[in-house]
Amino acid sequence: MYSSKITGLGYFVPDNVVTNDDLSQWMDTNDEWIQERTGIKERRWIDPKTGETTSTMAVKASKIAIERAGLTKDDIDFIIFATLSPDMYFPGGGVRVQDMLDMPTIGALDVRNQCSGFIYSLSVADQFIKTGMYKNILVIGAENHSGGLEKSTRGRGVTVIFGDGAGAAVLSRTEEKGKGILSSHLHSEGKHAKELALEGPATQRWVPEIIAENDPNDVSYFPYMNGQFVFKHAVVRFSEAIVEGLQANNLQKEDIDMLIPHQANLRIAQFIQKKFGLPDENVYNNIQRYGNTTAASVIIALTEAWEKGKINDGDLVVLAAFGSGFTWGSVVLRW
Ligand code: UT7
Repeated sequence: MYSSKITGLGYFVPDNVVTNDDLSQWMDTNDEWIQERTGIKERRWIDPKTGETTSTMAVKASKIAIERAGLTKDDIDFIIFATLSPDMYFPGGGVRVQDMLDMPTIGALDVRNQCSGFIYSLSVADQFIKTGMYKNILVIGAENHSGGLEKSTRGRGVTVIFGDGAGAAVLSRTEEKGKGILSSHLHSEGKHAKELALEGPATQRWVPEIIAENDPNDVSYFPYMNGQFVFKHAVVRFSEAIVEGLQANNLQKEDIDMLIPHQANLRIAQFIQKKFGLPDENVYNNIQRYGNTTAASVIIALTEAWEKGKINDGDLVVLAAFGSGFTWGSVVLRW
């Protein structure tokens, strides 16, 4: 059996910075509330004039990751693309990237696991590499939230949290013993699906019905989050996923060199940090600058941490995420 390791990382965020004060022009919110409850100071939202999409951001991040892996687009055997905000309802983003990068007719898989999408994608890529089926897999997490948020006081509970961006990793076969992905752990609990969801339009309530109802109070096509309920589950599931990853590898919390939690809320990340007794330098957060970028958050944070020299050869890196579904999971890597 082979092992897989990350050989290239890249990310891209739109230039357009939206501060908390900017948001308060469109809705009844303020910098103090947002910072106190979430830690977010600003986020990047696509400027519609640029024509940027989820897939175009994914392509920019992917080019960087492929180059840093020392590869070309023709060396990539497979694409896995995690997003909850694809350019089109169908087909998904994977084929868009295959086309825009002018890649050979390799397979492209779309993953729909929201905040834990990148964790799931990395795990799937790892399985393909372990079996020997593929050597180099492009794993992407990208989101364009800003186009679909309700930018008014009614939507403020969700709108202030989310940001746009993309990250990509190249996962490659390695012969190095004890390096790369050590294990991945995936979970779901679908009974809470509606606590964090965008319900329509989808086949359960399709466009003709929505048009026929013509209900000005219909918010089913905006994301909904039962914030406190999600928060309470997040802190428990994050912890479980990290503990599970450590136990599977006979490791202790003191062994963690870098924890990259999904950037859902700085308070959640700080709670986890305290629970595991980790010093500041062993946890990486950037929600302050980007908000919650869902499937892109872990890979953007991982890339930034690596670029800043915070992840070095031999480090134990733990990635963990929780979100809509509910779905959650962790990946444990030896860098
Ligand atoms: O990435 C997927 C996983 N996501 C998460 O894990 C997120 C988990 N949840 C959270 O991060 C937090 O629950 C939120 C940040 C979403 C909300 O924070 P909260 O402390 O749970 O606030 P809340 O929803 O209980 O709202 C408190 C008050 C309410 O007013 P009343 O009813 O007390 O008068 C809200 O209407 O704050 C009000 N509020 C706001 N005020 C100013 C809600 N949103 C805003 C806002 N600005 N943007």
